[in-house]
Amino acid sequence: MEDDVCRVLISREQIARRVRELAAEIAGHYTDSHRGLTIVAILSGSVIFLADLIRHLPMKMKIGLITVSSYPGQATKSRGAQILESLRGEVRGQDVMVVDDILDTGTTLRLVLDELRARQPASLRTCVFLRKPAKAPPDLQVDFIGFDIEDVFVIGYGLDYNDHYRNYPHIGVLRAELYRD
Ligand code: XMP
Repeated sequence: MEDDVCRVLISREQIARRVRELAAEIAGHYTDSHRGLTIVAILSGSVIFLADLIRHLPMKMKIGLITVSSYPGQATKSRGAQILESLRGEVRGQDVMVVDDILDTGTTLRLVLDELRARQPASLRTCVFLRKPAKAPPDLQVDFIGFDIEDVFVIGYGLDYNDHYRNYPHIGVLRAELYRD
């Protein structure tokens, strides 16, 4: 796996530090929430970030999952997002925070936010582990961001290429000859 990565963009130590900081920022925003927090994670890329983040969040919470497909198989360019499995259960009147791995073109997050808004939560916030500012649309505001990164295809810490590399502990850049656009 190491041989397939041409450079480490963010190390596991940097990730661990930033996730702790992010959790503190998030906790600070929900100190007055009487309703309890519902975290809605977008599968599959956010699983590792989700697992780390929630264990640093001290408040009572529920977790919901939503499965979206955007990069089918051997692709590194989004082909339009599609909800494969929607959230089970109610979020009406609850404080909801969406968690995703990466904000690239914003198609995925927009789709999920539209779906959740229609279910009338009391509040709706967003948290992404990575953002590519070069591509992310300026009108799509995210409340909590782990790292801004350059516009390169990254893998690891939950992010995949063709369903591999999710277990790579750092954020790495895949060697260009291993993928096709
Ligand atoms: P959009 O363009 O909808 O993309 O904001 C969000 C989803 O696309 C995937 N994605 C990536 N996956 N490395 C990956 O492994 C990347 O560099 C990358 N950029 C986008 C990811 O699933 C994300 O939720």
